[in-house]
Amino acid sequence: MEGLSGDRASVEAALKRQRFDGESGSVGEAYLSEDGGRRILVVGIGDSLDAKAAEKLGGTTAARLFASGETHAVIDLGGFDFDADAAARVALAAELRSWRYDRYRTRLKDKQKPTLARVTIVGAGADAGKRWKDRYAAVAQGAALTRELVAEPPNIIYPESFVSRVKANTEGLGLEIEVLNGPAMAKLGMGALLGVAQGSVREPRLLVMRWNGGAKDEAPVALLGKGVTFDTGGISIKPAAGMESMKWDMGGAGAVAGAMMALAARKAKANVIGVCGLVENMPDGNAQRPGDVVTSMSGQTIEVINTDAEGRLVLCDVMTWVQRTAKPRLMVDLATLTGAMVITLGHEYAGIFSNNDELADQLLKAGRDTGDQLWRQPLGEAYDRLIDSHIADMKNVGPREAGSITAAQFLQRFVENDTPWAHLDIAGMAWSDKDKTTYGKGATGYGVRLLDQFVADVAEG
Ligand code: BES
Ligand code: MN
Ligand code: ZN
Repeated sequence: MEGLSGDRASVEAALKRQRFDGESGSVGEAYLSEDGGRRILVVGIGDSLDAKAAEKLGGTTAARLFASGETHAVIDLGGFDFDADAAARVALAAELRSWRYDRYRTRLKDKQKPTLARVTIVGAGADAGKRWKDRYAAVAQGAALTRELVAEPPNIIYPESFVSRVKANTEGLGLEIEVLNGPAMAKLGMGALLGVAQGSVREPRLLVMRWNGGAKDEAPVALLGKGVTFDTGGISIKPAAGMESMKWDMGGAGAVAGAMMALAARKAKANVIGVCGLVENMPDGNAQRPGDVVTSMSGQTIEVINTDAEGRLVLCDVMTWVQRTAKPRLMVDLATLTGAMVITLGHEYAGIFSNNDELADQLLKAGRDTGDQLWRQPLGEAYDRLIDSHIADMKNVGPREAGSITAAQFLQRFVENDTPWAHLDIAGMAWSDKDKTTYGKGATGYGVRLLDQFVADVAEG
């Protein structure tokens, strides 16, 4: 509170009246008598100066001022020993927490409109500024793209428009984009993905994004996303209540697109390929039926018991395609795959399933470091047997028990040559009904920070 001079005593008195005690996330407020009644916020950070406290500070400040009438906030970190990364994360959290999608609100009153346009951080040192510029500004951009894709309604974002939205937002960043349409995927034998798409008038797409920032012949890291732009369940139709939330069943694909944008925007020194399987799952005269047997690109056949277990049908062909096309050193898929995952972990952690302990540990660590948290889940023979089919190589659902695990077992059947693979079930994480530190109610952007950190840790030397 340096520089308050004559007002210092009255600010302190005001804080006291508000019972401000510095507890993490608490905010005290005062107004200066001079300087046009300038607002002073005093934000509690508890007693640690780690990155988490830094994010809490940035996020809390932004949430408080976002639509307050203030246009410019100055955050003074002087006198606090935040390191450069933590200080930069004050800015990151403020930026993330200020995101809101108002495109369809045409009657917002002036008082409801966001006002905060600029945040200046002082007292942090040049290294923090560099960290923001070289790293987190790009991460914030990527997360904003993810959140936009997730927030958009399903009549606006469908496979084709998902692709054009990603293209429009990443133009000029040097991402190499390739798109496969339905006939191209049919030629490759992607019968599992196409079976899901066949009930929709929206054509499916395979969106491929390549970022080649690493050594010329280094095998890429592959990031795969489930992109079901709307999931009605198909013929195994979902109940009406809450079905609108299935617009964000493309949250995995959204995270992959946002992460690719972030990596390109910060010119990551790594080779990364991002692939999104984009379809809409609809009931229709031409929709696939429970009982249908489809042939995946891998050649393995699948008995479709439940058309609502469609995400795995999309991802299995994406996995085969990326392994055969790009020969990745490892692959990580993200998917809002099962309701069972939400029952297991709620909205605090995404589940991680992996055939490789080292890869799992690297992702778990990236999760701890960024706050995009993960908790490991088991895989095993006994679970795998639960999806054996009497008529085909496998069925697309097991019994009710262990629904997230049998979904992961299904995907594991499409791993070739022991490629290190991790599956992240983000069903509980892509959307939030509550305000948190770095996001308000709505699209969270989960996965962008995680993948950015993971790539920085394992592929950028
Ligand atoms: N997209 C859903 C999973 C989901 C549910 C995500 C709730 C987020 C919130 C997925 O396609 C699905 O419908 N899964 C079924 C699988 C079942 C039929 C085996 C489920 O979880 O009920
Ligand atoms: Mn479904
Ligand atoms: Zn789904």
